[in-house]
Amino acid sequence: MTHTSTPLPRIEGYTTSIDDVKALGRSSPLAISDRGYEILGYEAAHLALNSDKFDKASTFKARLDDIGITEGSPSRSDWEVLMPATDGQLRTRLRVMYAGMMRPAQVARFGDRVRGLVAGVFDELGDRQSVDAMEEIVWRIPSRMYCDLVSAPYSLAPTAARLSESTQGPLMTRDTSRRQEAIDALYETYALVEEHISKRRENLGDDFTSHMIRQEIDGKLTEREMLLNAVGLLLASIDNTVHQMGIAIGTLLQRRDVWQQLVADPSLIPAAVEEAIRLAPRLNTLLRMTAEDVEVEGHVLDAGKIVFVSIASAQRDPAVLEAPDEFRLDRKGYRALQFGGGNFNCLGQHLARLEMQETVRALVTRYPNAHLRHDLKITSYPHGNEVERLDIALV
Ligand code: HEM
Repeated sequence: MTHTSTPLPRIEGYTTSIDDVKALGRSSPLAISDRGYEILGYEAAHLALNSDKFDKASTFKARLDDIGITEGSPSRSDWEVLMPATDGQLRTRLRVMYAGMMRPAQVARFGDRVRGLVAGVFDELGDRQSVDAMEEIVWRIPSRMYCDLVSAPYSLAPTAARLSESTQGPLMTRDTSRRQEAIDALYETYALVEEHISKRRENLGDDFTSHMIRQEIDGKLTEREMLLNAVGLLLASIDNTVHQMGIAIGTLLQRRDVWQQLVADPSLIPAAVEEAIRLAPRLNTLLRMTAEDVEVEGHVLDAGKIVFVSIASAQRDPAVLEAPDEFRLDRKGYRALQFGGGNFNCLGQHLARLEMQETVRALVTRYPNAHLRHDLKITSYPHGNEVERLDIALV
């Protein structure tokens, strides 16, 4: 391809401040920084996430490099086989199994189970007046949901939560001091999941693990692929959901007018959760690699380069959204970028939304006067945001 496009605006260093990133996105949909290409506009982001001219598997490897799990190091090969790092036929086979379990219609069937487990978590609060909501509500829900999905007892939930956090956290924060913690947690996850699969073999039911075992018996998955999918489910389903749920609840409680509208009409909750995800996503950037020279918005991006798709900026792009910084319950025709796209997109997104909606519903209906006891505290890292404090007065 001939490189005739105008040079991209240059960003010195990089910042995670939403105001800075937003300002950049409003001056140009693309830029180049010290770390690679930056995609800041909605349409360009949508293209990069969905087009097969962009690859993803190699970017997962780059994230492993970032925390020192480098090529040739002992555990590297056990990370590289996980779904986000795969491509080609293996990726398709691994995804087909999930897709069957996680279609919107299938997930809708989980409604009662999600409501039941959310109710259980809230019942445990008894007559508490205030709560450390991350510890006592938010961490408990996706981890118990994981147990429900695989038919494991809730007593396993704290371990599953710890393992998901210890593997995903260091990759998200690029904290090299947690490298060994991540490696140990990965192996603990493999062992735990392997033992669980062998127990379920003797007593198949209507759960995710049994579904995978049947696929293995039918020759659709190998034993190894089944194990990889089961490990992937534990790692992917908890940590991201926890932080997005905490951020969404905090974002809604910060806006008293919105909260009052939800109390008056809980049918607005799905729209409110969607808008909270748009304005305050868990993930700041999703990564892609240019598989070939590719033209985006009149600029040619060179092949083999990492592309940082800025969710934080693109989800506030004024070219596609009216008043993008405003929280609006009546937005139409907008599709979140937070869950990625194409053949890599998040297979658990419908379930994650359901968990968040039902948790907000329980809070709104049981505690209409809920409010933040202290400021919501979120720490931003290059790839995402982590909730440090969500203290809620319930009455
Ligand atoms: C709010 C919570 C969640 C967020 C923000 C989230 C976000 C993401 C993102 C951004 C990706 C990669 C998409 C891409 O690069 O195009 C992904 C992949 C994935 N997610 Fe989620 N996710 C969430 C919850 C879940 C849940 C609850 C599950 C399972 C029940 C799940 C299962 C997966 C799996 C299996 C993949 C790998 C897909 C692949 O590599 O082909 N996620 N998720």
